[in-house]
Amino acid sequence: MGKEKMRLLSTSCWCQSEGIRMNALIYGVMQLFLLLAIIRSCQGCPEKCACSSQTVKCQNQDLDAIPNFIPVNSKLLSITGNNISSINEDSFPSHLELLTDLDLSDNEMEAVEETVFHNLPNLERLDLSNNNIQTFSEKAFPDDNKLQVLNLSRSFHNHSSVKGILNVLENGNLLHLAVLDLSNNDLVLLPDDLFASLSNLVKLNLQNSSIISIPDGILTLPQLQDLDLRHNRLRNVPSTSLIEFNLKSDLHIRLVGNPWRCDCSIDDLLVWLKNSTQVTDMKNLTCADPERLRRQPLLQVEQSQLKCLGNMEGVLETSYVFLGLVLALIGVIFLLVLYLNRKGIKRWMYNIRDACRDHMEGYHYRYEINSDPRLANLSINSDV
Ligand SMILES: *[C@@H]1O[C@H](CO)[C@@H](O)[C@H](O)[C@H]1NC(C)=O
Ligand SMILES: *[C@@H]1O[C@H](CO)[C@@H](O)[C@H](O)[C@H]1NC(C)=O
Ligand SMILES: *[C@@H]1O[C@H](CO)[C@@H](O)[C@H](O)[C@H]1NC(C)=O
Ligand SMILES: *[C@@H]1O[C@H](CO)[C@@H](O)[C@H](O)[C@H]1NC(C)=O
Ligand SMILES: *[C@@H]1O[C@H](CO)[C@@H](O)[C@H](O)[C@H]1NC(C)=O
Ligand SMILES: *[C@@H]1O[C@H](CO)[C@@H](O)[C@H](O)[C@H]1NC(C)=O
Repeated sequence: MGKEKMRLLSTSCWCQSEGIRMNALIYGVMQLFLLLAIIRSCQGCPEKCACSSQTVKCQNQDLDAIPNFIPVNSKLLSITGNNISSINEDSFPSHLELLTDLDLSDNEMEAVEETVFHNLPNLERLDLSNNNIQTFSEKAFPDDNKLQVLNLSRSFHNHSSVKGILNVLENGNLLHLAVLDLSNNDLVLLPDDLFASLSNLVKLNLQNSSIISIPDGILTLPQLQDLDLRHNRLRNVPSTSLIEFNLKSDLHIRLVGNPWRCDCSIDDLLVWLKNSTQVTDMKNLTCADPERLRRQPLLQVEQSQLKCLGNMEGVLETSYVFLGLVLALIGVIFLLVLYLNRKGIKRWMYNIRDACRDHMEGYHYRYEINSDPRLANLSINSDV
């Protein structure tokens, strides 16, 4: 049934292009025919798809493009598990006013081109997870889009292909976005003002995304309630972030699976964890290093175990060794100088000895004179 309609429609399309050159009567008849065909196809279901009420599903059909002639009254369109390598402005040629849900997951998709979603003005939920996106146009979404849920979990080819979507997020035209799933991508560092314009974001998933620090600005998102940072590369949470957490008591975060470094610098985080209810998986956080605290739950680590001494001892040790070496070197140089000047020194020693002897003799002489009473009188008299 569906196949017949498709054939009918493609015939009419062919007729339309040829019809322009025919006379007006035939052209008019053809137009009518085409209109009829379109009306009929609107209620029909695209090839390889299953339709029920306002839902169209074309799953695991090896499609390499979005099927044409999606019924205009569709609300939900799911084309998952196919082989669609790119979507562009021709992917949705007709205006699908009612479409709110679009699932394009598992398609090995590489390119999301300009204006692709412009014919889907009421799109609310878009799933692009499990693709291989390398380029994502900044102009994919219309300015007045209604997008609320965007799933980009494991969507990107690599770290550098994330740039396009980051520009979209930064641009600030996803004003209604409430749920953003960026999990399982290699993000590492996110731009500081990335989330500044996502003022309605409630739920943000950054799980397994190689993140090394909590991005600036996330914690000040006014509506944010659920932040998933599990399985990243966080080693600590700076105290400035802890203060921001305290100011947002509605915000709950998940932090398990990060390689926490349990040294003296994690002190503030521990104090905060023990007094906070915001980290829902806090019982399962464990130290990754130092070695002696590995796998120890953070909540069970005592303040006295948090040492940065390991490093200090090392520093002291090396400085002692260095000092010793310097002293030895000075000693060697001193000895060398002595050795090279041995003749001069000998002469100098003799000179000193002679000088001393002369001096001592003179002293001795004077002493003898002074101690002779006869001479003493003499000297007194001579003084007078
Ligand atoms: C997907 O399409 C590409 C060409 O675009 C083709 O080489 C590949 O074999 C297709 N994969 C499957 C599973 O059909
Ligand atoms: C996004 O897609 C992944 C897998 O396709 C799924 O596990 C996850 O729940 C989805 N996220 C949201 C927010 O729907
Ligand atoms: C990302 O993939 C592209 C295309 O395969 C490649 O040219 C680029 O070097 C990759 N970048 C990184 C950081 O791996
Ligand atoms: C984590 O993300 C990478 C891609 O960055 C993916 O290959 C890997 O399967 C993910 N791990 C899990 C447990 O989902
Ligand atoms: C512990 O938490 C409460 C509210 O949850 C807060 O008022 C109090 O200042 C916190 N105490 C410390 C020491 O952080
Ligand atoms: C913590 O870990 C235990 C056992 O590994 C698990 O059963 C529990 O669900 C985890 N709790 C959270 C909040 O992740």
